[in-house]
Amino acid sequence: MFIALEGVDGSGKSTQVAMLCEALGPDTLRIREPGGTDAAEAIRDTLADPGIPLDATAELLLFFAARADLVNRVIHPALEAGRLVVSDRFVDSTEAYQGVARGLGIEVVAELNRIATGGLLPDLTVLLRVDPAVGLERAKSGDRFEAEGLGFQQLVAGAYEDIARREPDRVVAVDGNGTPEEVHLRVMDALREFLGPEPAGTGS
Ligand code: TYD
Repeated sequence: MFIALEGVDGSGKSTQVAMLCEALGPDTLRIREPGGTDAAEAIRDTLADPGIPLDATAELLLFFAARADLVNRVIHPALEAGRLVVSDRFVDSTEAYQGVARGLGIEVVAELNRIATGGLLPDLTVLLRVDPAVGLERAKSGDRFEAEGLGFQQLVAGAYEDIARREPDRVVAVDGNGTPEEVHLRVMDALREFLGPEPAGTGS
């Protein structure tokens, strides 16, 4: 099973990914996007650095280059081996940041995802909902996307809401405000609700 956490910059995803993986046990594969392979981490460094000028389409393709390497060499084999995979961001980030906030188009993102990953989507995506202004206050990595400012983060937040409305069976939004423990309980509730009343362990 493949779970992704999503949210604007500073939404607390990374903390929640760590807490979720801890709760799910040691065989859980924890990844972050972009990243997770040597090539993808190298691409991440370029993408994060606001000092490196980058064309928007080049940026989009770099995210998918990193994702293709991670999915094909790490995620697919892990899922085939029956492992739980938890990712800090996945293709919904690309739809929100590049497709909508950069204006490159959501169809383009979906088509590139088909090419790069065979159309892989998480089974469950948990969207951590926080006010983009609060997130931007908290975010402190100084990366290319934080540097775009509040208007950009607001476009990203709106795009996430559109995805959640469009795919309610896959995407669950939870309130990202509160202590890490409070938000973690909401994430676990979302997971339990997704898994339903049947005991987990079989099925997809
Ligand atoms: P991340 O490490 O999650 O940053 P943070 O922990 O600060 O939220 O992600 C790095 C940045 O890359 C983040 O600003 C979002 C952006 N991003 C995209 O623009 N498109 C994508 O497809 C992905 C995966 C991330």
